[in-house]
Amino acid sequence: MEFPSQLMFFEDSAELTESLVDVLEQGFRNQFLDTFTTPIGLATGNTMIPIYKSLVSRLEAWPFSDKEQLSQSWCSFNLDEYVGLDKKNIASFRSYMSKYVAKPLHLNEEAIRLPDGNAQDPVKEANSYSKELSSLGGIGIQLLGLGENGHIGFNEPPCGPEQVCRVVTLSETTRRQNSTSFQGDQNKVPTHAITLGLSEILQAREIHLVVTGASKSKILQELLSRPASNSLPASWLRLHSNVYLWTDKKAFKDSM
Ligand code: GLP
Repeated sequence: MEFPSQLMFFEDSAELTESLVDVLEQGFRNQFLDTFTTPIGLATGNTMIPIYKSLVSRLEAWPFSDKEQLSQSWCSFNLDEYVGLDKKNIASFRSYMSKYVAKPLHLNEEAIRLPDGNAQDPVKEANSYSKELSSLGGIGIQLLGLGENGHIGFNEPPCGPEQVCRVVTLSETTRRQNSTSFQGDQNKVPTHAITLGLSEILQAREIHLVVTGASKSKILQELLSRPASNSLPASWLRLHSNVYLWTDKKAFKDSM
């Protein structure tokens, strides 16, 4: 199978954002203004911030009645959440989604589904999150970022395509990378998270993997040149027939 199914290369990341948001906006129209709705899969991370900013301004420009319908039928599932952080903690992915999506769009916070990282029993929470997603038909459009160690969601290496939503231990690399949200202190980054597995991600109808910036060029090169293996979790996207790779000059220039 060809990987990626579609290569969306842009010299400039602002152009990339606008083109991707064209696709997402249409996706939101199809999914939430029609009678049949499938959850949209959302991601967090720095890569997604300009995308959510642009998406919000597009959706805000919709006619009032469409916006009403959008907020009534909104159904999204995030990939992951830290274990042990209160949802009000500004470093939680719940706070991130509230800041960049729910508040600016005046959405009911509950419509944006994330695993409850503060649940009494995180294993049970992971199971019920997965069941709830599957009862709604699984993900339609999935937005994905890429970790510098090749993770998607928090599916840290090694990880196979059969893995489902579960509690995972975060790698030192990931805790170091994500420490910026924790006053730069890696020790403050939770050691565990709940993440959708590769299995749920690979069942999405359409996947948009966004890889931008120089810090991602090494892992992108590996992703494009290596066969699928557990040591590079994102490489299992090779099993999917509808993956769009959105990338810019900084990430892609050394990948050829
Ligand atoms: C984080 C998240 C991923 C995200 C990735 C890249 O740890 N769990 O969902 O896509 O790492 O983050 P960034 O966009 O900040 O590079």
